[in-house]
Amino acid sequence: MNAAIRAVVRQGIKEGAEIVGIMRGFEGLISGEFIPLDLSSVSGIIQRGGTILLTARCEEFKTPEGVEEAVKKVKKAKMDGLILIGGDGTFRGGMELEKRGIPTIGVPASIDDDLWGTDHTIGFDTAVNTALQALDKIRDTATSHERAFVVEVMGRTAGYLALMSGLAGGAEFIAIPEVPFKMEEVAQAIKRGFERKKRHFIIVLAEGVMGAYQLAQELYERTGHEIKVSILGHIQRGGNPSAYDRYLASRLGAAAVQAIISGRRGEMVGLKNEEIVLTPYSQAVSRRKEIDLKAYELSKILGL
Ligand code: F6P
Repeated sequence: MNAAIRAVVRQGIKEGAEIVGIMRGFEGLISGEFIPLDLSSVSGIIQRGGTILLTARCEEFKTPEGVEEAVKKVKKAKMDGLILIGGDGTFRGGMELEKRGIPTIGVPASIDDDLWGTDHTIGFDTAVNTALQALDKIRDTATSHERAFVVEVMGRTAGYLALMSGLAGGAEFIAIPEVPFKMEEVAQAIKRGFERKKRHFIIVLAEGVMGAYQLAQELYERTGHEIKVSILGHIQRGGNPSAYDRYLASRLGAAAVQAIISGRRGEMVGLKNEEIVLTPYSQAVSRRKEIDLKAYELSKILGL
């Protein structure tokens, strides 16, 4: 997100705009916590995880009163438009602002990678790489102890993070919400694996499927193999961003500024096949990017 903020500020200043940062997202919009951002205020942040503007989950903005208050603050500060960096919740908020005449353009940032209208969202690649490093480490200990593991990754109700990290990490099985699976088939695969002297069996579980401890327990009851659990949690949401994420954030942040200056509004910028595309918020939040079933099938073949 810092790389996107940097791009918005620097592209914006090049276009002759004055840029103000809003602290803690919609929370800061309601409370009027704005800070001027100049060229040097975004110096040295491209490699930093998180966001210098801080972030918050804001319940108040989900109420009409909260939105009205935010609109008042935007008008009082004489802002011409807003660049919103976030996921579907952020763009739903953007739709509310649009309805009240505030021009906005969205930049997709979420480790879940579940938005329609962009090949990937900012943060996804870094999260995949973090999960991958964890999987590599878990595989070392799993192999030495000849153990099975359930490794739970984030993704909310989507399985992209699990699919990509599981495929890249050589998981024996990947459980994602988009593709139902039979518990007995996974149990049989674990048994077969250890019978043919496989030294580990790693299941990457998307958090949207079920709890990792529950899955491990159910598989233990069917196989008699102890299954260890590792829940990766919030380590997937921090750390130095990958090269791809910095590149993506730079392209999208700059494109968002150009879009709003050219009069576009109510749309999310995305990068598809290396081209900048704009998608109305309504589509970005309501249409779900389809899971790549070919990649999923491949993971089953390669995980044998
Ligand atoms: O949407 C991004 C995400 O990281 C999800 O993958 C995860 O379920 C959720 O946010 C965690 O949110 P919080 O940190 O507020 O619990």
